[in-house]
Amino acid sequence: VKKSYTEQFRPQFHLTPPAQWMNDPNGLVLYEGEYHFFYQHHPHSNVWGPMHWGHAVSRDLMHWEHLPVALEPDEHGHIFSGCCVVDWNDSTGLFEGSHGLVALFTHADQHPETGQPRQRQSLAYSRDKGRSWSKYKGNPVLEESGLIDFRDPKVFWHQETDRWIMLLAAGDHIRFYQSENLQEWEYSGEFGSRDGSHDGVWECPDLFELPVEMSGGISKWVLIVSIGDHPSYPEGSRTQYFVGHFDGRSFVNEDSANSIRWLDHGRDNYAGVTWSNSPDEDGRRLFIGWMSNWKYANLTPTESWRGAMTLPRSLSLREQDGDIILIQTPVREATGLRKQTKELRGITLAPHTPFRTEVQDDLLEIEAEFEAGSSSEIIIKLQYSEPNETLIGYNSREQWLYIDRSASGLTSFHEAFACRHGARLRPSQGRVKLHLFLDRSSIELFADDGSVVLTDLIFPEGTVRSIEFSTDSGEAVLTSLCIHSLDS
Ligand code: FRU
Repeated sequence: VKKSYTEQFRPQFHLTPPAQWMNDPNGLVLYEGEYHFFYQHHPHSNVWGPMHWGHAVSRDLMHWEHLPVALEPDEHGHIFSGCCVVDWNDSTGLFEGSHGLVALFTHADQHPETGQPRQRQSLAYSRDKGRSWSKYKGNPVLEESGLIDFRDPKVFWHQETDRWIMLLAAGDHIRFYQSENLQEWEYSGEFGSRDGSHDGVWECPDLFELPVEMSGGISKWVLIVSIGDHPSYPEGSRTQYFVGHFDGRSFVNEDSANSIRWLDHGRDNYAGVTWSNSPDEDGRRLFIGWMSNWKYANLTPTESWRGAMTLPRSLSLREQDGDIILIQTPVREATGLRKQTKELRGITLAPHTPFRTEVQDDLLEIEAEFEAGSSSEIIIKLQYSEPNETLIGYNSREQWLYIDRSASGLTSFHEAFACRHGARLRPSQGRVKLHLFLDRSSIELFADDGSVVLTDLIFPEGTVRSIEFSTDSGEAVLTSLCIHSLDS
């Protein structure tokens, strides 16, 4: 579906709402050949407010058709985050022996007596491929008094126990429930009050099993947990993950060191979850995140719309230095956006002889491979027509990959926005391998085939004109470079 978004900063190949506010991805499900995407939406404002579920569908994860708002607030409150499942065997009895979609979400309102925030879980269902939705009459289906934070249900069918499993974020831990019909839920366990990072409230969990690459059939469970913004936490909201085992009742962390693992080392990949009813036919587990940060989400410099998603990504597990880590790669459908490709090889880089290449297009995919050689730092500079620049750097002494957006364009809307941040990157076979996507207001950097990822918003005032490769001292070789200009 062709769209023509002309506003300044409007992403061209990233999913954005047609108008107004968007936050978390919700209800991701693949059904009858369509990828459904719902999202936290305020249809009447460009800042967060009474939440609805917006809706879009796609057959290729790249081109989206926007559909009317799917779920509106009702007598039980606003519609917070949640998921969708396909009820294949009519376990709910809502589909007259056939199958259909069930959305499970948090109803958020105030307790009538205490006035305290209240979060309860509810259902809605669709018999027509998500085109129309009915709220279930018995809503809410799950509540726990005494828990103020109790939200963002993620549900999946668990073959071994022949049950639906629901996990929920409950402040500082994840709670697990089981059901046969999605309507009656029984508590089965909890995880996390002593695991991972607790610098902020836990939100938007997801849990799924993935094979470990080249392990001869070993698989592990991955638990994703987002963590809300916290005043003592300069990075703002971000997402962690755990690798372990699901025993049917709760999650068991297999990382004895209990290290904190970040899903993304940029600032703008939050509340990400995966598509239900995947793995798809190709065995893929597909992920998408909200490309913003609660630290400044309401303040980013856009008007007619606010909020965008990351590129959809395929997840896998890889063994690295005795550890099992989560890998993210852009979905292969993204190669369909390529219009034109410029290829270069074997360019020596030194401080006084940078290599600069002009670009005509501002929607770019760049694949670059380097030998760090004697250089201490390799620097890629995205240079704009206005005096804006975004830097990507790799410091080989510290084995540190970073993005520096301090001079990337508009940054003053929040004091935490202008910054440099990064992650440890150990080059495999002595090569630094970078894969980068540039849209009108974002940069996504996949390093070392997806083992390190940085996702960042940027708001450049001009259009990108050239890309410059250099070192700060010593020599490096840009062994190969591909610059693809992309279609929207
Ligand atoms: C995460 C979150 C969720 C909640 C939703 C409300 O960004 O805070 O926990 O359901 O946003 O919009």
